Amino acid sequence: MHLLLIGSGGREHAMAWKLAQAANVTRISVAPGNPGMAEEDKVHCIDIAPDDIPALAQFASDENVHLSIIGPEAPLVAGIVDEFESRGLRVFGPRKQAAQLEGSKAFAKDFMARHNIPTALHATFDNASEAITWVQEKGAPIVIKADGLAAGKGVVVAQSVDEASSAITSMFDGQFGAAGSQVVVEEFLPGEEASFIVVVSGRECLALATSQDHKARNNGDTGPNTGGMGAYSPAPVVTQTVHEHVMKDIVQPTIDALADDGMPFTGYLYVGLMIDPDGQAKVVEFNVRLGDPETQPLMMRMQSELLPLLDHAVDGTLSQATVDWLDGYSIGIVLAAGDYPASGSKGEPISGINAAQANGCKVFHAGTALIDGQLVTQGGRVLCATATGDTLQEAKDKADTGAACIQWTGVRYRTDIGHRAIKRLGS
Ligand code: AMP
Ligand code: GLY
Repeated sequence: MHLLLIGSGGREHAMAWKLAQAANVTRISVAPGNPGMAEEDKVHCIDIAPDDIPALAQFASDENVHLSIIGPEAPLVAGIVDEFESRGLRVFGPRKQAAQLEGSKAFAKDFMARHNIPTALHATFDNASEAITWVQEKGAPIVIKADGLAAGKGVVVAQSVDEASSAITSMFDGQFGAAGSQVVVEEFLPGEEASFIVVVSGRECLALATSQDHKARNNGDTGPNTGGMGAYSPAPVVTQTVHEHVMKDIVQPTIDALADDGMPFTGYLYVGLMIDPDGQAKVVEFNVRLGDPETQPLMMRMQSELLPLLDHAVDGTLSQATVDWLDGYSIGIVLAAGDYPASGSKGEPISGINAAQANGCKVFHAGTALIDGQLVTQGGRVLCATATGDTLQEAKDKADTGAACIQWTGVRYRTDIGHRAIKRLGS
């Protein structure tokens, strides 16, 4: 079977690596992919941009692709699934209307409020002065979010009214372009975050293993917010009781409400949770795709094949699907360019990937490029050193050793990924 995978990040590398392990998968075309994916068995990078929807659909049709899998959010929000479906092509992901759950924070918050799905109290504004007045009434801490897609960077958790006001002013001044033409302000939720990702097919769903990512750039969960600096699975904060509560009070009501509203969902639904000390969960965000970097440790733990899950979801037979996970833990540590989350530094030669892999890591590529045969950085998140272990500490020690093998000028990574879980678990 020939698969088409769209995207070029660490998430897509991990998916391609996992999908390629299935005997019945003969070829995976990745658009546009990256140099790490190109080295995987059966994987071929094709030079089509992820937003060139007509060219992607033409490729899937010409090549008789069995299933197209969409990695990142932008093509989903732009309606790639609607276009593929209109051409009779099999595709895994939500249609444009449902993808607004990620594409517009105002849409997601209104949807949750309308359907009584637990989330932070919020208000949406289209001008700075009303937003600042609301902030002054509510006080800090308070959270300011650009409405549209901003690669995980359009959120400011403000510790003071002044900080909140200046975040609002910069967003309306165009810091995130059109994504900031509306701004959501919401109450600050205390607690611990977890990523709860389910495969959805209409009113049916199957939960993947839980995970947790670290969004702050620096050790101690400090510094600017990023797309994610590392992740591990499972997340011990999601106990069996919390899991049941999330399925019953959040996931099932969400997918039923989507179907009731005439926008049934197929694809990965990523529910970003905040879990308070009493185990009560609220939704911080919805994403309509797998997490990055959560996917890297998830694919390392998934024992059963991935493709049957996706096929069952697309065919409406998800109740027949099962998924098995490696006992123990997995972790991925992101190695980013020196100036991340800004972007600019690139072109630095990378060394040490083979040494990291010889030390028991799988290194997934994200922002890499091959120039005259030399692997160099392309900026942003560059690599993810991923490892498994019987304990989280064992997995982390392997990933830390691997990360330390990898070098380029300005490389930065966190050395405390998993610290909350290790404290909770004692190892
Ligand atoms: P989002 O893109 O909405 O997930 O927000 C990015 C990050 O900001 C989240 O992962 C949280 O760490 C933090 N955050 C967002 N909303 C809230 C909230 N209401 N309360 C506390 N932290 C939040
Ligand atoms: N790691 C967070 C995300 O993928 O949105």
